[in-house]
Amino acid sequence: MSEKKALSELRSQRWYAPNSIRAFAHRQRTQQMGMRREEFMNKPVIGIINTWSDLSPCHSHLRERAEAVKRAVWAAGGYPVELPALSVGEVLVKPTTMLYRNFLAMETEELLRSHPIDGAVLLGGCDKSTPAMLMGAISMDIPMLFCPAGPMSNGKWRGTTTGAGTHTKKYWDELRLGNITQHDWIDLEGAMTRSIGTCNTMGTASTMTSIADAIGFMLPGASSIPAADSRHPQMASACGTRIVEMVWEDLKPSKWLTREHFLNGVAVYMAIGGSTNAAIHLIAMARRAGVELTLDDMADMATKVPVLANLFPSGDKLMEDFFFGGGLLAQMKKIEQFLHTDCAGVSGKPLKELLANAECYDDETIRGLDNPVVPLEKGATLAVLRGNLAPRGAVMKSSAANPKFRKHVGPALVFDTHQELSDRIDDPNLDVTEDTVVILRNAGPVGAPGMPEWGNLPIPKKLLEKGVRDMVRMTDARMSGTHYGSCILHVTPEAAVGGPLALVRTGDLIELDIAAGKLNMIVDDEELERRRAEFKPVHHQYARSFAALYQQHVTQADEGCDFDFLQSPVAVREPDIF
Ligand code: FES
Ligand code: MG
Repeated sequence: MSEKKALSELRSQRWYAPNSIRAFAHRQRTQQMGMRREEFMNKPVIGIINTWSDLSPCHSHLRERAEAVKRAVWAAGGYPVELPALSVGEVLVKPTTMLYRNFLAMETEELLRSHPIDGAVLLGGCDKSTPAMLMGAISMDIPMLFCPAGPMSNGKWRGTTTGAGTHTKKYWDELRLGNITQHDWIDLEGAMTRSIGTCNTMGTASTMTSIADAIGFMLPGASSIPAADSRHPQMASACGTRIVEMVWEDLKPSKWLTREHFLNGVAVYMAIGGSTNAAIHLIAMARRAGVELTLDDMADMATKVPVLANLFPSGDKLMEDFFFGGGLLAQMKKIEQFLHTDCAGVSGKPLKELLANAECYDDETIRGLDNPVVPLEKGATLAVLRGNLAPRGAVMKSSAANPKFRKHVGPALVFDTHQELSDRIDDPNLDVTEDTVVILRNAGPVGAPGMPEWGNLPIPKKLLEKGVRDMVRMTDARMSGTHYGSCILHVTPEAAVGGPLALVRTGDLIELDIAAGKLNMIVDDEELERRRAEFKPVHHQYARSFAALYQQHVTQADEGCDFDFLQSPVAVREPDIF
């Protein structure tokens, strides 16, 4: 444990301690809320940043969890204050929560900066909320830890295990084919997401919370605890106890967070068969910490650590099974040789000590290197592709792709907008075969904007009817972590900023070689130059709102899609108090 911080060094003391007219107002107004002087004076102030909202279904229990955090903060001698922050519920926010990730990061940083707060507990978990809040809190650099919303309970429908996201897509295809009825579809709607919490598959939510846990941002193993389990509010309470200790220890990110911690996150990312979204968020979070982390670091780890967690969409179990099987620490123990076990996170305990006590109770769900869910030669959590189509990279979850497409050449079928794709994809006269490479462009960070999860492009109905369930698809957008298929994503640079994806034409041959990491269009350089000279952006440029700011400042996927003015670690300037 580091040396105990003195009371006078707490930043909240700048607001509350002085004998000044301003500090008088701060004390007076806190008492206006019914607090007695002795309840808040001379105590660490703990900010509980809460992303609860009535339109954020995965976070519906977070107000109660905030209460659990508070009672422990009080008991530990702190003063808890809850602050609401932008809600980025994955499903109801349009066009995409990614458009708001950087704004939630900014809001987290600004809430902490502008208020008298000494330490923070971040309440989130639905997809973008985890990287967003962590990015902001890393930049702010005060003691902080993340309290994850936790996965929802396992799903079952008519005797079949159903996973949030993954099975929606599956049954939608069945409905389009007439294999289930409209009545079945409506019944499924009410049955599938049956409890509080984040998606119960290894979608982006559990990917990001597991990675954050592995890096050290949580009480160890917290990411695996199901939201509805009584151990979940117990964990929230433990966060309250720990954050007060962390304030006295002055355990802020810059004191513990290193490249090795991020590499632990990358190893876990591969082992859990995590969402392609993590490739963007990890880079964004690392840059906030001044850590150099690239797509190549991830591609390198992907050749060593196969998919081991047997969870949808790569496997056939759900997060509750993972928790009962021993959870994240049990999984980490099985890849211990790839981890930097001297690393300690917010618990202050080195990983090797944590793993020494970890046990696995279900080797079928939490697999070892000798029994992967997908062997490396059949595909990995992440493949990074480069070539004349994606000079700065594209990614693919090759473990979720049909092995027959690992090496593929096929003609492009290009759609410039999602509307055009929706209008034409089920046209019986569409010129398309199983070998076609379906392309959607202008759906990247600037183009959409916000790089929505449109990348699991629909299979044309006429092919679905012939039994086709997968084909090569390509886009500058992202894909939901709960989905699967041979989808090439995050093509960088994106079409809207003049990336080569903008130059492809229907009929051009596209060449994919996953093992070689190659993605090319077979078009000669002169022809490409000619097309480049004719390039005109077709995307909509926003004139107002967050979207306008976003389009002006967002970086490309290989840089984490952060804002250009936020990505480097520049010390936060403390506010003047006069
Ligand atoms: Fe919130 Fe999946 S929609 S975690
Ligand atoms: Mg998702």
